[in-house]
Amino acid sequence: MEITLVRGDITEQQVDAVVNAANSSLLGGGGVDGAIHRKGGPEILDDCRKLRASKYGGGLPTGQAVATTAGRLPAAWVIHTVGPVYSATEDRSDLLASCYRESLRVADDLDVASVAFPAVSAGIYGWPVDDAARIAVGTVRSTPTKVSDALFVLFTRDAYDAFARAVEES
Ligand code: AR6
Repeated sequence: MEITLVRGDITEQQVDAVVNAANSSLLGGGGVDGAIHRKGGPEILDDCRKLRASKYGGGLPTGQAVATTAGRLPAAWVIHTVGPVYSATEDRSDLLASCYRESLRVADDLDVASVAFPAVSAGIYGWPVDDAARIAVGTVRSTPTKVSDALFVLFTRDAYDAFARAVEES
């Protein structure tokens, strides 16, 4: 698998699937989630509402992932995952790793080749970016998958630099 780092906006990526750093309601929010719903349009929210009315009545649990249409985005699919809120007293790393593993599993079910990931949990959910980057890169590298191109799309220079260090060290 090829891992590429991109500094920019995940909604503009020409990939098969983009991963959304969602919350368990699947009904939108700020950060990446807000940008994806704004640019992708109402079709994404329609699909999310259907998921809430069927399989995920109680919301999508933290660490899991599910796909919807990507609406007007260049990508074909959005894979929504729910990162853990950072805790200084409880180690939630396994849940963050699970977001990447489960997203790749959903990508394999969709039979897609290229996937763009944001730095899940490293924004509103408060995860220190160096640690988030290490978990993200380590998990994507070590998960068996048919995905051949993984992009990490980083919005800020700090996040980009953290992911560059994580790739170098992995
Ligand atoms: N493209 C790429 N990265 C972005 C973009 C973008 N358009 N916008 C922000 N980032 P966050 P979380 C970066 O907060 O921490 C929402 O309200 C951002 O700088 O999007 O998992 C959801 O509904 C940061 O590095 O996700 C949840 O309630 C990273 O993406 C909650 O936020 C992740 O930041 C999820 O919080």
